[in-house]
Amino acid sequence: MKFFLDSADLKEINTIAETGLIDGVTTNPTLIAKSGQDIKSVIRSICDIIKGPVSAEVTATETEQMLKEADVLRNIAPNVVIKVPLTVDGLKTCQKLSADGTPVNVTLCFSAPQAILAAKAGASYISPFMGRLDDMGQDSVQLIEEICHIYNIYADFETEVLAASIRHPIHLLDAAKAGADVATLPAKVFYQLYQHPLTDKGLDLFIEDWKKTGQSIL
Ligand code: E4P
Repeated sequence: MKFFLDSADLKEINTIAETGLIDGVTTNPTLIAKSGQDIKSVIRSICDIIKGPVSAEVTATETEQMLKEADVLRNIAPNVVIKVPLTVDGLKTCQKLSADGTPVNVTLCFSAPQAILAAKAGASYISPFMGRLDDMGQDSVQLIEEICHIYNIYADFETEVLAASIRHPIHLLDAAKAGADVATLPAKVFYQLYQHPLTDKGLDLFIEDWKKTGQSIL
């Protein structure tokens, strides 16, 4: 399973990249706004840090403009993935970009039929949003399971399932159990994955007992 970082915060990305566990990055207009930086410069900087796929989202709503924006974004670095919304225009854009070899991440997916459309449009990634669906009282785990199941049935669907809007480690766990190819994690959730009180307690005890021996490995 691949881990992407859901962030446009360069300091955060730099620090977490050092773990060696991050395969890519996803951004969206909200995250770019939060960074306070120009989209082109922030995407360029992220691509300098992370050599894997970096999703940059178009902000236009019509295909013609989306394609123009996509052209600017994909010229920033070879690892840029164009992110488009799951709309008629978004999927028309997806189809055109995918046909000429540009990887596309289709975002704002909330249903399995939408995911089928994205796969037919040649998307490299489909991003079902777990947290936002749960917020509405719907079952995001069932959605991830359904999409993975359907994509597995059809060999001609090459789209990877990218679990997004992950709010806590259980979302990641459920996405992994369902067979999602990728999970995009906010920094907070990434760090939460390491945590268990018994790990801390066990380590304290080992350190305490080791001190009593008076030994040193080095
Ligand atoms: C990632 O591609 C999505 O834009 C992101 O995961 C959305 O997360 P949120 O629902 O926490 O804003």
